[in-house]
Amino acid sequence: MKVTVVGAGNVGATCADVLAYREVVNEIVLVDIKEGLAEGKALDIWQKAPIDVYDSRTIGVTNDYSRTAGSDIVVITSGLPRKPGMTRDDLIATNAGIVKSVTEQVVAYSPNAIIIVVSNPLDVMTYVAAVVSKAPRTRVMGMAGILDTARYRAFLASELNVSPKEIQAMLLGGHGDTMVPLPRYTTVSGIPVTELIAKDKLDAIVNRTINGGGELVKLMGTSAWYAPGSAAAQMVEAIAKDQRRVVPVCIGLDGEYGIKDCYLGVPVILGKNGIEKVIELQLNDEEKTLLEISRGKVKEVMDVYDNMPK
Ligand code: NAI
Ligand code: 2OP
Repeated sequence: MKVTVVGAGNVGATCADVLAYREVVNEIVLVDIKEGLAEGKALDIWQKAPIDVYDSRTIGVTNDYSRTAGSDIVVITSGLPRKPGMTRDDLIATNAGIVKSVTEQVVAYSPNAIIIVVSNPLDVMTYVAAVVSKAPRTRVMGMAGILDTARYRAFLASELNVSPKEIQAMLLGGHGDTMVPLPRYTTVSGIPVTELIAKDKLDAIVNRTINGGGELVKLMGTSAWYAPGSAAAQMVEAIAKDQRRVVPVCIGLDGEYGIKDCYLGVPVILGKNGIEKVIELQLNDEEKTLLEISRGKVKEVMDVYDNMPK
């Protein structure tokens, strides 16, 4: 199994490192536009193999897509990260150009690859990769929901002083200020979280989750990478090992949740063919309203991309 990770920056290199360390696949190609960066990080990851004891090979290349040929899965992390004061949507023009050119080169050498987009604004960059690759919607997806639910689960684990392993959670919508965490679908080892945490505290945790990316940008001056890189690696693993994991993933909706032609995060089954199935939850009126707000916000940015000179 061969995986390419485009972008050897913070998120891409972390993703490649997790894939190697956990021996998810045996061949990882790291690509960057910046001369020597991917080569250096790949070499560093390979030199860690005798210490951490793994066999997966990571090689790095500067913009040479011939070395990515025949990849089964491609993770796209290339693009600018968010800086303080920037919204994810501010990134659209620059990152759309990057994601477009990267996708063209990826599909030229790996026409059957499953593509996982990480670059922001996430939902719209997934749309860009889907339009450019012309691949079926089940093979072009975005990573955000696993990260956002991980933040939510981590905050809940801290509040309850329990292991994060015990927290199961689901979330819908775009990766941004309109994401929709779902307390009704959140449990602690099967116990509804609403029975364990008072509403005002739970509301505050939901709010912190929604602003979770921004909280880290404020602290570090750039966006997060450990959890995002691991989240992308978890998606690769689910596909590479045909695990059929149930996770929130960004996909182009085609009538599910009453939504068409919009890229949003929803629960899916992730397996060897990519998105094996979209799971439709029964939403209450409040959840439906929040999802509709999120849809409107993502669609606005999709329209900005559609109207940009190409
Ligand atoms: P970074 O700046 O550390 O790395 C980005 C890398 O992309 C750089 O090394 C740069 O040289 C490379 N790059 C730029 N243009 C390229 C091209 N045409 N071809 C190949 N490589 C190219 O940024 P970081 O922190 O790794 O973030 C990457 C992206 O992921 C950003 O857009 C960020 O906003 C997004 N992100 C998304 C998350 C999500 O949940 N979906 C979470 C965290 C970050
Ligand atoms: C994050 O959520 C900024 O999308 C990035 O960390």
